Amino acid sequence: MKAGAELFSALALFLLIGAVFTQRSSVRTKKPTRRPVTTRKPSVPKPAEPAQPEPQEPTDFPPPILGPPSIYPDCPRECVCSPSYPNALNCENHNIRVIPAIPSRTHYLYLQNNYISEVTAESFLNATEIRWVNLANNRIHRIDKNVFEKIPALLYLYAQRNNLKEVPAGLPASLEQLRLGRNRISKIPAGAFNKMRNLTLLDLYHNQLSDSDLGKNTFKDLKSLMQLNLAHNVLKKMPAGVPNTLIQLFLDRNRIDDVPKGYFEGFTHLAFVRLNYNQLSDKGLPKSVFNITTLLDLQLAHNQLASVPLFNGHLEHLHLNHNTIENINGTQICPYSLQADQSDLSVVPRLRYLRLDGNHLSPPIPLDVIMCFRHLHSIVI
Ligand SMILES: *[C@@H]1O[C@H](CO)[C@@H](O)[C@H](O)[C@H]1NC(C)=O
Ligand SMILES: *[C@@H]1O[C@H](CO)[C@@H](O)[C@H](O)[C@H]1NC(C)=O
Ligand SMILES: *[C@@H]1O[C@H](CO)[C@@H](O)[C@H](O)[C@H]1NC(C)=O
Ligand SMILES: *[C@@H]1O[C@H](CO)[C@@H](O)[C@H](O)[C@H]1NC(C)=O
Repeated sequence: MKAGAELFSALALFLLIGAVFTQRSSVRTKKPTRRPVTTRKPSVPKPAEPAQPEPQEPTDFPPPILGPPSIYPDCPRECVCSPSYPNALNCENHNIRVIPAIPSRTHYLYLQNNYISEVTAESFLNATEIRWVNLANNRIHRIDKNVFEKIPALLYLYAQRNNLKEVPAGLPASLEQLRLGRNRISKIPAGAFNKMRNLTLLDLYHNQLSDSDLGKNTFKDLKSLMQLNLAHNVLKKMPAGVPNTLIQLFLDRNRIDDVPKGYFEGFTHLAFVRLNYNQLSDKGLPKSVFNITTLLDLQLAHNQLASVPLFNGHLEHLHLNHNTIENINGTQICPYSLQADQSDLSVVPRLRYLRLDGNHLSPPIPLDVIMCFRHLHSIVI
């Protein structure tokens, strides 16, 4: 009986806490669960404590972390300047809200994982030698146009995981890598990538870009581009005017439903194409669109394909899982004739890895598939 009574009072207390919680939830409070006991007995007020206001912080962010004075008089207190790396300024993970004045000797600037909201010119007045800037994982919504155009040697700019709404304008033509993934970008200003002839990597993954944001001249000047990541945007069409120097093209998680005939014509190095999680069906894929001799890895998982598209004998990895494929005919998809001379290794397709799970297929694997793809190590059905 005693246990029962205890359970009952515990339950009552629980309900009471619930009631107090509900009342207090309109007052902004971070840890309401500590308070109910004092609230229950208002007649015995503890001195000062209940009347104490919630601590008022100037912002939600913790204060910047300041280190001891450096041997370098120009080293900002929020940063670490190591004598072994006099050209590096390490200001990452220091709760910084405003970028400090960057010393002129800085080549490598690390500002990632802070609370920076704006990038303005003042901090960079003397910093004309910078080559790498990492601004990833901050709260940046604005990069002034004149900040980086005055840094002609800039090679890498990393600004992924911020709140940018457009691609920053005025970036220098010297850039080799530009990472802007996981922002809220829905606009690319005209000429944003103009003259960037040395850019090899452009990452715009996880933004809000639609077809109308990518004109046929957007990527026109990118004569060295090797990696383009436009995955996780809201594209319905394959991007136009993509440089044919690309090695990697990632377009996963868009709403693309077709690939224009001859889209990949003229690509001389394309090796990795990812179109997982789109809306591709057989109708949207011209017969030989993926017959690309340089292609090594083709990913078309989570689409609506009912048959296996044709591909080149050089392809090594093919992801077709989670489509609506019902049968697979090895004779039809074999890149070379099954009758070809089996001792001629140049006509043995190089496919090593094939994923077909999540389709309407069941084992066994048809004999003609095994006959054709003799390098196949792994097939998932
Ligand atoms: C720039 O360098 C000059 C001379 O070294 C110095 O007086 C000035 O304070 C520096 N300005 C900034 C913003 O760092
Ligand atoms: C591009 O790279 C080449 C070779 O490193 C260099 O000579 C050239 O100045 C660079 N272009 C720009 C605009 O920085
Ligand atoms: C695929 O391309 C190769 C040359 O790269 C060509 O010989 C072959 O006929 C093409 N196959 C199809 C089905 O278009
Ligand atoms: C596979 O395709 C070939 C050629 O089109 C055809 O002759 C053969 O009957 C097909 N095999 C099956 C199992 O449907």
